[in-house]
Amino acid sequence: MSDSSILARASSNGLDKVVAAETALSHVDGEAGRLIIAGYDLEALVATHDFEATAALLWSTAGLDPAPSASEVRAQLGAARVAAFRLVPVLLAAARGLTVTEGLRAGLSLLPDEDKDLPAHIRAVGSVPVFVAALCRRDEGLPAVAPVAYAGHAEDFLRMLRGAPASAAEVEALNAYLVTVTDHGMNASTFTARVIASTRAGLISATVGALCALKGPLHGGAPGPVLDMLDAIGTRDHIKPWLVDEISKGERLMGFGHRVYKVRDPRADVFNKAVMLLTNGNERVKFARDVEAVALSTLKEMKPDQRLDTNMEYYTAILLEALGIPRSAVTAVFALSRIVGWSAHVIEQERVGRLIRPASTYIGHWPDNQAA
Ligand code: CMC
Repeated sequence: MSDSSILARASSNGLDKVVAAETALSHVDGEAGRLIIAGYDLEALVATHDFEATAALLWSTAGLDPAPSASEVRAQLGAARVAAFRLVPVLLAAARGLTVTEGLRAGLSLLPDEDKDLPAHIRAVGSVPVFVAALCRRDEGLPAVAPVAYAGHAEDFLRMLRGAPASAAEVEALNAYLVTVTDHGMNASTFTARVIASTRAGLISATVGALCALKGPLHGGAPGPVLDMLDAIGTRDHIKPWLVDEISKGERLMGFGHRVYKVRDPRADVFNKAVMLLTNGNERVKFARDVEAVALSTLKEMKPDQRLDTNMEYYTAILLEALGIPRSAVTAVFALSRIVGWSAHVIEQERVGRLIRPASTYIGHWPDNQAA
């Protein structure tokens, strides 16, 4: 096959299986349903690391020098949350009329790429919980709550969101979520971050672009629609007809299917376990599991040529709902964790130092009837 036909096929396949970078940060085995993050199997990482320890691991693996410890990351993130809180009045003025995710996009844009006090990866990660909590409370007509510098990131986010401390079980469940979604191979938002980093635009700029890519429903925007789907189905007797009707209309079932996983997404299992611990399998969770079972069998019947299984966004929706995260904020809470992965990829890409600049195949008209 010629170079140009390989390129044309790669772009029409959405660059499926095209290797765009070498990374030590994570590996996704879609056939085995296995996710490795910086040398740890996902389940082992969740069992041994909290959010700060995972961030320290990823930044060290990316080549940050000197490699930070978990306690150094915790102290720095606390300082960054306090610094970000000073920007909240400007953020709320700039974010009038914007959704929480759009408001977060505006908030990250307020940060300079260079700053003498704290490194960009710390400022980026430290700002997100402060901005997201303030934007959620704005939607409720409530004032922003100041961060507590010595608290853990997950604990402080829930406290800033609610205006009251969360239980230890809730903090543990949120930590499990945040650790699980820190990094995931060359997904669309991470690729975006690496492309921007390769132009030497700076880490903050790379995370703004990455958030824009994450926002779409085919990537990080699916959990809200998952909850909308559960609400629209409403009762058990509606499950099958509702799903059949959607698929017949050519709609996609949110929370199912994945470009890389052809079996169940292992992250869904981590979230399922966390949600069961948190809710003891309440009626909402039982209903969601019933919908999942019928959705899987219906997809098999109606899309027999596709290997469509549950992806992590399905259980993200249920877990974050159980934690009282507003539906409007689930994508922004995904970003609260994934920004660690984006920043680690930026650090890794900056060490590579080469501009990412792929080729394309011209399929337009040639001037004066000239052929290629
Ligand atoms: N429901 C119904 N049909 C589906 C679905 C779905 N969720 N996913 C894929 N298909 C069908 C699609 O319609 C197509 O069928 P046909 O050939 O008959 O037209 C076929 O499967 C192949 O689809 P594709 O778009 O080529 O597959 P992809 O690899 O590009 O899709 C995906 C991956 C995640 C975009 C897709 O499965 C999807 O849209 N899922 C729903 C949205 C969702 O849950 N997104 C969160 C993804 S996980 C978070 C992350 O890791 O970023």
